[in-house]
Formats: sequence, C-alpha cells, structure tokens
Amino acid sequence: MSEQLLVSAANGVCEIRFNRPEKRNAITLAMYEAFARCLGAAQADATVRAVLLSGEGASFCAGNDLQDFLNSPPLTDKHPAMQLLRLLPSFTKPLLAAVHGQTVGIGVTMLLHCDLVIAARTTQLSLPFVGLGLVPEAGSSLLLPRLVGQQRAAEMLLLGKPFDAATAQQLGLVNRVVEEAALLDEARAMARAIAQQPAASLLATRRLLRGDPGEILARIEEEARIFGAQLQSPEFQAGIRAFMARVRT
Ligand code: COA
Repeated sequence: MSEQLLVSAANGVCEIRFNRPEKRNAITLAMYEAFARCLGAAQADATVRAVLLSGEGASFCAGNDLQDFLNSPPLTDKHPAMQLLRLLPSFTKPLLAAVHGQTVGIGVTMLLHCDLVIAARTTQLSLPFVGLGLVPEAGSSLLLPRLVGQQRAAEMLLLGKPFDAATAQQLGLVNRVVEEAALLDEARAMARAIAQQPAASLLATRRLLRGDPGEILARIEEEARIFGAQLQSPEFQAGIRAFMARVRT
C-alpha cells in the first residue's frame, strides 16, 4: 500500500487518509490506484461498515496532481483515475469525509459521492476546471446541480470561485462545520455511530437514498471523453503552465 495513503480500521470504520501534505494531498496516479484498492478492500470486508476520508497537513486535497495531468497516460478505461471514478458511485457502504483547508477539484467532486461531510471552519472549496481549460469530472456535472440547484451549480462550475465551509453548508454540500481541532473527533464519532446501526438496514437505506448508479456512471464516461480531449487542448496547456509559473515564482 502506498504511504501516500494511510489506511486503518477500528470499530467498523475504515479510515483512508491522504498523506502527501507537502503537495497539499494532490492526487497522483499511484494514489488513485491505492485509493481504488482500499475502497475495493473495504467493500469486500464485512467488518467494515463505513469509510471515512480525511487528509494530512494543511489541506484535505488540492485535486489531481497538475504535473501528472501533463505526463499521465490517455484517459482510457485503464487509467487509474477512471478506475477510482467508476468505483465511487458503485461503492455501497456509507462514505464520510472530514475536510479542511484548500479542497479543490476532485477533492470537492468526491464529496458528492459521500453520504456525510464534516468540514473544518478553515475549509475553502473550489472547482477550477473551466479556468484550467478542463470540464467537471466524477459525475459532478450531474450530481452538483441535483444537490445545489442548476443556477448555483452553474456559478460554481462556470466561474470556479472558491467558497467557504459556511457557504458549503448552506448549499447542502456539507453537513456540519466545526473547529479544525475537533474535526477528526466529530467525524469519527459520526462514522462510528453509523457503523453501529443494523447492517442490512443501513446498506438498504443508503441504496435507496442514492438510487441507481447507472446514470452517474454514464455521465462519468461522457465527462471523461471531453476531459481527455481538453487535456490535449491549447486552453489546458495555457492553464497549467500559468499554475506552474506561479508556484515557481
Ligand atoms: N498538483 C501538484 N502540485 C500541487 C497541487 C496540485 N494540484 N496543489 C498544490 N501543489 C503543490 C505546489 O506546487 C507546491 O509545491 P512546491 O512546494 O514544491 O512548490 C505545494 O503543493 C504547496 O502549494 P502552494 O500553492 O504553495 O500552497 P498554498 O497553501 O499557498 O495553496 C492551493 C494551496 C491548493 C490553493 C494551491 O496550491 C493551488 O491552487 N493548487 C492547484 C489546485 C488545482 O488547480 N487542482 C487541480 C484541480 S482540477
């Protein structure tokens, strides 16, 4: 297991913690692979009743590793990110996230596949896909308008401006906002409480709440076709070089 992902299990809860703090937990190809493996193992393990995602260091997750975008293989079925994205809507156990600090791109879109999200007051969320010359992924073009409404989703995705934890809570993207020092304790307590519920009822209720994943999986494929094409576009090359230039100065 990659050390950029820390995995532990206790009291029926599997914790998956992004552990690349020096890069704000930006997700690399190896991390996607490890993440998909962990979710697969959590799915198969009957003692795991719920999964909690969190991040080490200053940020929950700064999105896809931008350097990897430049170097990574074509976005085919076998691409590690695609394997993870397909798993998210198919995963059947309660999924929780404890977020803090800068939470960007897939750091936000993965929350749309979570059942409960606890955010530290420090959280800043953003969906900068269009500014980077890309399009939304992880089914977010379908799930975000469903959750927050068409116009709000359009503002978040077309403009890509960051928003804070209080706004995310008002929008329904976040259940609770807490002080950062209390984040993990609160999230763990919630995950444990869920894990103690009657197992069959819990799984069936989650399935009913989330509905058929088929539509989401189809949208993920559609988004990926356009995303893959945009990765080759001059718009994306300009967006990414602007970020690289900023961090070098
Ligand atoms: N991919 C690769 N590296 C990233 C990264 C990403 N998505 N996000 C942050 N990093 C790296 C920076 O390059 C920097 O590396 P360095 O110390 O070797 O120069 C390090 O993480 C710290 O980043 P920095 O920008 O100094 O931290 P910050 O706290 O001031 O800002 C962010 C944090 C997340 C707001 C900022 O790093 C950012 O905008 N990152 C890009 C987010 C993004 O566009 N993600 C893709 C979405 S599709």
